[in-house]
Amino acid sequence: MLTFFSLVKSLLYFLALFPPSLGSTIAQEYDYIIIGGGLSGMTLANRLSEDPSKTVLVIEAGGFHSNDSQVAIPGFLGSTIGNTTLDWGFSTIPEAQSNNNTYIWHRGKGLGGSTLINFMAWGRPAELEIDGSFTEPPQAYAVANNLTFISEAQIPWISVLNTLGVAHIQDALSGNDVGVWMAPATINAQEQTRSDAASAYYTPISSRTNLVVETGAEVLKIVINSGLDGNVTASQVQYMQNGRALTVNVTDAAEVILSAGVVKTPQLLELSGIGDPDILEPLGIDVKVNLTGVGAGIIDQFFYGVSYELNNDSIVTLDDLRNTTFAAAALEEYETNKTGLFTIAVAAFSLMPLATIVGSEDEANQMINAQALKIAQGNYTAAEKERLNAIISGLRSCGEIGHIEVVGFPGFFTAKSAPEDGKKYLTFTADLQFPFSTGSIHITSTDGTVQPAIHPGYFTEDFDLEVLIATLKFIRKIATTGGFEALLGDEIDPGTEIQSDSDIAEYIKNFGGTEYHTVGSAAMLPQEKGGVVSPELMVYGTSNIRVVDMSILPLQISAHPMSTLYGVAEKAADIIRGVVTV
Ligand SMILES: Cc1cc2nc3c(=O)[nH]c(=O)nc-3n(C[C@H](O)[C@H](O)[C@H](O)COP(=O)(O)OP(=O)(O)OC[C@H]3O[C@@H](n4cnc5c(N)ncnc54)[C@H](O)[C@@H]3O)c2cc1C
Ligand SMILES: *[C@@H]1O[C@H](CO)[C@@H](O)[C@H](O)[C@H]1NC(C)=O
Ligand SMILES: *[C@@H]1O[C@H](CO)[C@@H](O)[C@H](O)[C@H]1NC(C)=O
Ligand SMILES: *[C@@H]1O[C@H](CO)[C@@H](O)[C@H](O)[C@H]1NC(C)=O
Ligand SMILES: *[C@@H]1O[C@H](CO)[C@@H](O)[C@H](O)[C@H]1NC(C)=O
Ligand SMILES: *[C@@H]1O[C@H](CO)[C@@H](O)[C@H](O)[C@H]1NC(C)=O
Ligand SMILES: *[C@@H]1O[C@H](CO)[C@@H](O)[C@H](O)[C@H]1NC(C)=O
Ligand SMILES: *[C@@H]1O[C@H](CO)[C@@H](O)[C@H](O)[C@H]1NC(C)=O
Ligand SMILES: *[C@@H]1O[C@H](CO)[C@@H](O)[C@H](O)[C@H]1NC(C)=O
Ligand SMILES: *[C@@H]1O[C@H](CO)[C@@H](O)[C@H](O)[C@H]1NC(C)=O
Ligand SMILES: *[C@@H]1O[C@H](CO)[C@@H](O)[C@H](O)[C@H]1NC(C)=O
Ligand SMILES: *[C@@H]1O[C@H](CO)[C@@H](O)[C@H](O)[C@H]1NC(C)=O
Repeated sequence: MLTFFSLVKSLLYFLALFPPSLGSTIAQEYDYIIIGGGLSGMTLANRLSEDPSKTVLVIEAGGFHSNDSQVAIPGFLGSTIGNTTLDWGFSTIPEAQSNNNTYIWHRGKGLGGSTLINFMAWGRPAELEIDGSFTEPPQAYAVANNLTFISEAQIPWISVLNTLGVAHIQDALSGNDVGVWMAPATINAQEQTRSDAASAYYTPISSRTNLVVETGAEVLKIVINSGLDGNVTASQVQYMQNGRALTVNVTDAAEVILSAGVVKTPQLLELSGIGDPDILEPLGIDVKVNLTGVGAGIIDQFFYGVSYELNNDSIVTLDDLRNTTFAAAALEEYETNKTGLFTIAVAAFSLMPLATIVGSEDEANQMINAQALKIAQGNYTAAEKERLNAIISGLRSCGEIGHIEVVGFPGFFTAKSAPEDGKKYLTFTADLQFPFSTGSIHITSTDGTVQPAIHPGYFTEDFDLEVLIATLKFIRKIATTGGFEALLGDEIDPGTEIQSDSDIAEYIKNFGGTEYHTVGSAAMLPQEKGGVVSPELMVYGTSNIRVVDMSILPLQISAHPMSTLYGVAEKAADIIRGVVTV
């Protein structure tokens, strides 16, 4: 899909090989066994191993990429997407309502997980969504804002959106994120390197002797025993490393923490006998806990782009990295001075209520009222209605929660056409924050190396598609307003011949995809509402299995999720250590 990335890959100039086992093997038994060393797993590994009397094991399927320039240099953003060393590259099951398309779901593999390959955008949901216990770190914010390179293609961003009625937000991390702003990124400002979950949470403490990290180690199953108190207990974790089947025992006081991400966590629960009997029994899996919420009701934000050619070919954008001469010089500048295009981050963000997108409060209210009526009269369970009505009330709190995100990406970032050599582009992306549609992730095999069936459920609710169609029309307004009018030339994708709602819908379905923010495959909710984990993040019906990762979020949030998830993992560590109670 992202064509410039394949060319950037050829620029890889450094490769280090790492031993599979890091740290010293200090025990055959551990207090905490963390499955998956991604964003959540690394955060937990750091916090739980702060107590020297506790031993921690992390089992991670991918490698340790601490000296990998393709990961570390910000300007390589996107270049590792699709590379199977660093990306699981899941694909979805075709569904009729999205034209039977197969969408690729990239997910990071290796210590740091998806933070190794993501776009480093740092955001925070609106105050109304999250209880406000956040203290702004002024110093950290200043450092995070140290963006040494902003493409001139993004400069009209704030003034154009102001003209279209979108207010400028000084600090989008304050709990008010409805408006337009230049966003911070997870870049280490001193070194101008990607700050991922491994470099931030693991590298500085990797010498702790009570922390063992196994890489190239893929967990296939948790062995579950009946417990004494009616709850079942994990007794062993089984994994493959270097072609060898290995196990680690879970002792009486120990815990297993699943941090394998939104796709693999439900798969591992199901393989271990925790899930919906209708899924497990046909595969011959012994049901240890009947938990119908596992893998059900996932919610994925959907996005697509609209690309424009720039009228001025001298403006530097990420398109310049397709030019190997330019890229080599930019890399030299980066290595010598830590400046230039390779320090770039995606900066131009905005979040808008539906009324801004469709052009009037009246029209927005009509759409919202029709959807509210459909939910009231529809064939939904009580729990589904509660979730859908939460989105309705978010839509009605216009001005406090943004329903649609539009990002200005400095380069060609659409899939219908290909970029041309020497030309420069600006792409606006439309990102639906609160889809009504839901899908599922379930196993189809007892073999843990067979990827589960992902049914994303895109557009099972028409409202989602209607909003995305309206957003394309809004983006066309952005492109012809103020400073963008002179800067932008032809619309490349979808192209001005695409005008009718049905043609726009086809474009969205065929050339859009996941925004990589899927939640809800092991939701923290009451069990009768489809929940999988308790407020302590313990899997219902078990006494020593927790989930700490994107799977537990029961609802979407109006932000790129990293900051929220680091917060979830920090809080989870405190809960597990007994520092705080829920
Ligand atoms: C391409 C992309 C771009 C993104 N851009 C942004 C952005 O700009 N801003 C933002 O805030 N968020 C972004 N995100 C989302 C964010 O990175 C993720 O939501 C976050 O990393 C999820 O954290 P996690 O702990 O749930 O899982 P992950 O960080 O994905 O970690 C899961 C880990 O578990 C490991 N694992 C899985 N199965 C097994 C197994 N069986 N055995 C052993 N290990 C296993 C994986 O290899 C991985 O390391 C992006 C994500 C992607 C994929
Ligand atoms: C990464 O490079 C540093 C500095 O060269 C070195 O000290 C460290 O051991 C390397 N890390 C790995 C995992 O090889
Ligand atoms: C994939 O990424 C790894 C790690 O960065 C790198 O060694 C390898 O060359 C990459 N492969 C391709 C095809 O780019
Ligand atoms: C999708 O697949 C179904 C079943 O094969 C088929 O009936 C339907 O026509 C297909 N839809 C499209 C848009 O191709
Ligand atoms: C920005 O980065 C430069 C170069 O590392 C550094 O000198 C400067 O102090 C940083 N500014 C802020 C506000 O952190
Ligand atoms: C099962 O474990 C949970 C969490 O540890 C606990 O609250 C619950 O009381 C246990 N169930 C039974 C039947 O003991
Ligand atoms: C796990 O426990 C079993 C039974 O107590 C024992 O036989 C086995 O050696 C242990 N395995 C490891 C890796 O410690
Ligand atoms: C599993 O639980 C669901 C929901 O509580 C229930 O409807 C179903 O009958 C149970 N299935 C089995 C096999 O016990
Ligand atoms: C094109 O962009 C370059 C680089 O920013 C600038 O110097 C030049 O003035 C621009 N040309 C026009 C016609 O705007
Ligand atoms: C590094 O910065 C210095 C001082 O601005 C400049 O003279 C030099 O050309 C730069 N080097 C590269 C490779 O860009
Ligand atoms: C309502 O939904 C349930 C579950 O999907 C289904 O079994 C039932 O037939 C539906 N009822 C109607 C009236 O559509
Ligand atoms: C590639 O970059 C070099 C150096 O900036 C420049 O001289 C050349 O014209 C560029 N090639 C194309 C096709 O734009």
